[in-house]
Amino acid sequence: MREPSGDVLDRFELPARFLIRACAEEDLENLEWFGMFTAHREIIREAFRRHRAGDNPMLVLDLGGFPVGQAWIDLAKKRDASTGILWALRVFPIFQGMGLGTRLLHAAEGIIRGAGHAVAEIGVERTNEGARRLYERLGYALAGEEREEYSYEQPDGTRIEAVSDMLLFHKPLG
Ligand SMILES: CC(C)(COP(=O)(O)OP(=O)(O)OC[C@H]1O[C@@H](n2cnc3c(N)ncnc32)[C@H](O)[C@@H]1OP(=O)(O)O)[C@@H](O)C(=O)NCCC(=O)NCCS
Repeated sequence: MREPSGDVLDRFELPARFLIRACAEEDLENLEWFGMFTAHREIIREAFRRHRAGDNPMLVLDLGGFPVGQAWIDLAKKRDASTGILWALRVFPIFQGMGLGTRLLHAAEGIIRGAGHAVAEIGVERTNEGARRLYERLGYALAGEEREEYSYEQPDGTRIEAVSDMLLFHKPLG
């Protein structure tokens, strides 16, 4: 961890209790992370509708009632290929690099396995070398690529058309 450049007046440690649990309606506003993901409000709400229908379980990493991380799992899109897709995996920036993403991934893999799927898939932007390193360390291997086009409306009514070119990583769950 980076040392602060200013004078240190006190230094102490506190225990922190994290939970990984199913997303609840009360989390939705907090999943916007104080504006970082407000533009994605529609995506979050639609994902939650599918979470309730059982097609897209949403896991949150809870610290004191606040979702400081998340992993969403699309169990439906590639059901025919016995594949569950992990998406929107993120950990709040100040908590990154502490092993929390690894725990979220393991919990998400448990959900995919529990749904009877044989493979976990995750798409990674070509430039995201950090995430790629993490997935390879956890047993994921490059399996192909995919271009995804999607659109969503921001809270101010602006429609965004987006394209993401992803490398696809697979892990057999055995
Ligand atoms: C990727 C991410 C979910 C991992 O969670 P985490 O709690 O930081 O992960 P862990 O502590 O369990 O593992 C650390 C590893 O995660 C990766 N990582 C850490 N910070 C990262 C970041 N900002 N962006 C991408 N990967 C990161 C690295 O591989 C790191 O290992 P290293 O020590 O060898 O560099 C988290 O860093 C994150 O939210 N990043 C930004 C959003 C993102 O890139 N999501 C993935 C989309 S495919």
